[in-house]
Amino acid sequence: MEVKKIEDVKVGLAKQNYIATDEISTVVFLMEKLGKPALVEGPAGVGKTELAKAWAKATGKRLIRLQCYEGLDESKALYEWEYAKQMLYTQLLRDKLQDLLHDASSLVEAADKLAAEEDVFFSERFLLPRPLLSAITAPEPVVLLIDEIDRADAEFEAFLLEVLSDFQVTVPELGTISAVHQPIVLLTSNNTRELSEALKRRCLYLFTDYPTYNAELAIVRLKVPELKEKLAQQAVEFVQGLRQMDLKKSPSVSETLDWAKALMMLNADQLDEKTLETTLTVLLKHESDVQKAKRAMRRGGVAGSSSNSGGGEGRGRDDSAQRRRSGGWDR
Ligand SMILES: Nc1ncnc2c1ncn2[C@@H]1O[C@H](COP(=O)(O)OP(=O)(O)OP(=O)(O)O)[C@@H](O)[C@H]1O
Ligand SMILES: [Mg+2]
Repeated sequence: MEVKKIEDVKVGLAKQNYIATDEISTVVFLMEKLGKPALVEGPAGVGKTELAKAWAKATGKRLIRLQCYEGLDESKALYEWEYAKQMLYTQLLRDKLQDLLHDASSLVEAADKLAAEEDVFFSERFLLPRPLLSAITAPEPVVLLIDEIDRADAEFEAFLLEVLSDFQVTVPELGTISAVHQPIVLLTSNNTRELSEALKRRCLYLFTDYPTYNAELAIVRLKVPELKEKLAQQAVEFVQGLRQMDLKKSPSVSETLDWAKALMMLNADQLDEKTLETTLTVLLKHESDVQKAKRAMRRGGVAGSSSNSGGGEGRGRDDSAQRRRSGGWDR
């Protein structure tokens, strides 16, 4: 697909079943045009990872994913020498190596002879590329997803900065390898720790919040089309109501989708009290949150629950997610 204007991004993502806000489409457009990485931050389950997947599909590029975690280091992110394969080759080539060394008169001479051959063992044949090197050496343009960068250590972040600024890496035994095509890079973060200013400076910044009522309803319609329209509206309204409450963990879009699927499986006709009470744990994963929600429902305090459900035309509710902005972080 050709990306000429922001609208093209929105349409391209929509074709991949991804509902993009204007903010999302703009940042993705700029990421493409400026060739800068995009840092996507926001609460869990709001479609950060999905955005990278959808964009790769929309542009027909291969997605290379680096999942970050505590203790992630260069050997898992960049490359590793395949020791087992090196050992195996040494074993199989033992006779050849003996031929080579048999006339050496001293240990030093033998070691020198061996050293002259070590290029064989430190060549691309024995190099195991990890996601970052794969993205740099890919013969075609790719999308590189560096997922949950906040889980990696600060030292890894510093190392990543280097890679992201020149798109080249140095393997001491082989020399410097530069990217054939600069990859499109998306980084995601759940903000479990503050990222460095240096990293932020190199990236375009995108905050993805919980979707608005209309956007979330559109996502449910796309992903769970079998769910009855009225029920979909009530479900989304209910979830949006829950996000207004002070919960340990607000339900995310993933939970809304799981819930929508559960309601469909249960053949529910409407969100009556019994259905709500029995399925609430699909949405809320902390017992205290479940109890809180139940109490609110009994008081008629959660939008969409049977006591005050008036269906969902969506008017006036569309800013609910925004009102909760940044109040919804995992606590
Ligand atoms: N705008 C959207 N359009 C379509 N689907 C969406 C959208 N936002 C979220 N989803 C759906 O919500 C689910 C969760 O998305 P995803 O895994 O990308 O969340 P995340 O932000 O990466 O969460 P985490 O921080 O837990 O990794 C996916 O099934 C995804 O398809
Ligand atoms: Mg994710």
